[in-house]
Amino acid sequence: MTAHPASRERTAAAVTVPMALLAELTHRCPLACPYCSNPLELTRADEELSTAEWIGVFEQAAALGVLHLHLSGGEPASRRDLVELVAAAARLSLYSNLITSGVGLTETRVKALADAGLDHVQLSIQGTSAETADRIGGYKGGYQRKLAVAGWVAGAGLPLTVNAVCHRQNMDELEAMIALAVELGARRIEVATVQFHGWADRNRAALMPTREQAAAATVLVAAARERYKGVIVIDYVPADHFATYPKACMGGWGKVGLNVTPSGKVLPCHAAETIPSLTFESVRDLPLERIWREGAAFNAFRGTDWMQEPCRSCERRDIDFGGCRCQAMALAGDPAATDPVCVRSPLHGLLVEAAERDAAAEAGAFVYRGR
Ligand code: SF4
Ligand code: FES
Repeated sequence: MTAHPASRERTAAAVTVPMALLAELTHRCPLACPYCSNPLELTRADEELSTAEWIGVFEQAAALGVLHLHLSGGEPASRRDLVELVAAAARLSLYSNLITSGVGLTETRVKALADAGLDHVQLSIQGTSAETADRIGGYKGGYQRKLAVAGWVAGAGLPLTVNAVCHRQNMDELEAMIALAVELGARRIEVATVQFHGWADRNRAALMPTREQAAAATVLVAAARERYKGVIVIDYVPADHFATYPKACMGGWGKVGLNVTPSGKVLPCHAAETIPSLTFESVRDLPLERIWREGAAFNAFRGTDWMQEPCRSCERRDIDFGGCRCQAMALAGDPAATDPVCVRSPLHGLLVEAAERDAAAEAGAFVYRGR
């Protein structure tokens, strides 16, 4: 695509070098988590980039200055060429991080990934018992497999982070989830309160934490950080519906990271396709660098020129960048609006009311992703 000369001039100063690329290798996944942020319309296996195409993307990313490569999905272990892709990342000196449910990995495969140069593993947990975890993940036997995978990861000498997405149906297990991560030998746990993108939005009423749960989680994390100092690092994303200010989603739009979908579309964030006014280029048609620098979707919300009030004149605009564009789209119907999570948004009160309503609703059955 060709940017309008004026818009190129306006945005040129704001273009930075991206630090991280999230490669969504596939949307295939044996699990069916109801909080999955993958789009409702999943990419078919026959549309996925080939091994050579992915390696080409990694080469372009490295040339662009990317340092961290997150291999995600769906379940990245569903790709038969995972070891080959990891070896390519290692050749390019990209720090590779495998984000996995663990299902689809064997001890031999974990060893092969380590030998190929994998740097780090992020393993998701859904709960602290087979009953909770397998019900939430929609996959019987998943919990036991995760425990085994954590052992194989340790055996292969790879550092482990445990990912725990928290929501109304497992938040009461948070303390036990942190203890489990310690037991599994993780150096880090990411406790992230559910974000309502993709399938999670379909399950809003079943997943929305109550105000009491959200507050208790914050207190619990603070105490656990003290207790486990020097043992495990706890990263925490609190429930933003009960927050005062939004988080700096993606560290700023088109600023530090980019996503490539299984079929090669390049997105400024994983949920960007929920913004109907944006169009996305593919690595099958254009060089990655050109998409990053000149792509209309990347320039749409880069910097601060696009902001409306109250963000435009707010002292926090370079701290949180007005929050999440996808959340603004979902909740305000305008991707350039102030994220309604912010207390300064005129829609903040409505957002909190809706969240309280969802949190009080009968949980009902999950709508499992892809089923
Ligand atoms: Fe952030 Fe905008 Fe709220 Fe200011 S008004 S705190 S920039 S979201
Ligand atoms: Fe898209 Fe936050 S998820 S900007």
